[in-house]
Amino acid sequence: MTAITTLIDRPAAAVSGAELCVPLIDGRTSGYVNFDYAASAPALAAVTDHLAALLPHYASVHRGAGYASQVSTASYEQSRRVIGEFLSARADDAVVFTRNTTDALNLLAHCTPGEVVHLDIEHHANFLPWQQCGARVVAATPTIAGTLEAIEAELACAPAALLAVTGASNVTGEVLPIAELAAIAHRHGARILVDAAQLAPHRRIDIEALGIDYLALSGHKLYAPFGAGVLIGRADWLDAAEPYLAGGGAVREVSVFETEWATGPARHEAGTPNVLGVAAIAAACTAIATLDEDTVARHEESLTRLLRSGLADLDGVDVLRIWAEDSDDTVGIVAFTVEGFEPGEVAAYLSAEHGIGVRDGRFCAHPLLAKLGHGAGAVRASIGLGSTAADVNRLILAIEALRTCGPAWGYAKTEGHWAPSPETRPLPDFLGLGQLGDLATPGCGSFAA
Ligand code: ALA
Repeated sequence: MTAITTLIDRPAAAVSGAELCVPLIDGRTSGYVNFDYAASAPALAAVTDHLAALLPHYASVHRGAGYASQVSTASYEQSRRVIGEFLSARADDAVVFTRNTTDALNLLAHCTPGEVVHLDIEHHANFLPWQQCGARVVAATPTIAGTLEAIEAELACAPAALLAVTGASNVTGEVLPIAELAAIAHRHGARILVDAAQLAPHRRIDIEALGIDYLALSGHKLYAPFGAGVLIGRADWLDAAEPYLAGGGAVREVSVFETEWATGPARHEAGTPNVLGVAAIAAACTAIATLDEDTVARHEESLTRLLRSGLADLDGVDVLRIWAEDSDDTVGIVAFTVEGFEPGEVAAYLSAEHGIGVRDGRFCAHPLLAKLGHGAGAVRASIGLGSTAADVNRLILAIEALRTCGPAWGYAKTEGHWAPSPETRPLPDFLGLGQLGDLATPGCGSFAA
């Protein structure tokens, strides 16, 4: 089977920014290598094309008789259907639009009528809403099988309404066996929520077949960075809960002292919604659905293998894993440390000297980084539809050069933030802001995050 190392010749996989050139610290320019898809993926060209067509029709939703309002309303409601179908939701599942995964999970926390169980490896979005409700935390064991047993033991010991799990770790890329977890939850009378923020951009998900009760994702990780997210799942808890936001659009009837609230998605979508953000997610789903699943999977598998083994084989580089023993199933996310250099320094060097964008820090997963013995953070490289084997090779050569020769420029840490010293790279003219070094607020990775 031939390895697919690039998808750039497939129009549906074309991403905005693929041709971006960025300044290097020595005054040269370089093609940008984006290894930060896990934080925010670039927009698909199909998404920006769709928004450009929709924008002239942009108008109020659910509120206007004008033609443009009706087009916007049709687009908004059609987006629910497209996204639900893309994820194979059940016909009676609610598709509620939110700002992002964090917002979707806070909404579900607001609606969950009982106790919650989750793992200690979760992103803060799937940790803090539950921590605030006094959730029960299960410690992941060194194997996936052991972790599943620990979850089952916790659910058997005391009932819970919900098991909240990530689909794929935002730190290590390791994928959890969702169907098995769903079966465990259901066996003990709990529902399952999957934080699919990192899984959905890499794998096709079948909500019904996997037995998922609730799923949350963000547009900005699914090639639709326009400020919308989604919560999909069983409608009963959502209809029974108090509205998440009180305001126009979430009501049937209001008198001076009383309100009759709407049911369905509208109940939790008060205020004018993000029509363009929602249309962007639907357009991304439509474009991704046209890509051949096997081709995308082979592209991702080959690049992930190249990235993971290329980094792990370098002297002084440690690749983070939760389940070193039994998980080979990972999406294209690799976190690592480089001996002798702080993660922020590595990230600043990659950006300044090689035009490579990565994320450093604790990736909004402080408990996991502490558990893995990397409380001081790590560097994370994450790939997506626009990534190529040449990109991966460039990263590996850059890390190798750092280990063997050290950086060619000076770097300094100020208030926890690493930057070239001096920082001379210009910002794009259209911003009218001068140089990166002139900014009062540092622009890249921070230890706290
Ligand atoms: N949750 C995003 C990440 O992991 C921001 O980078």
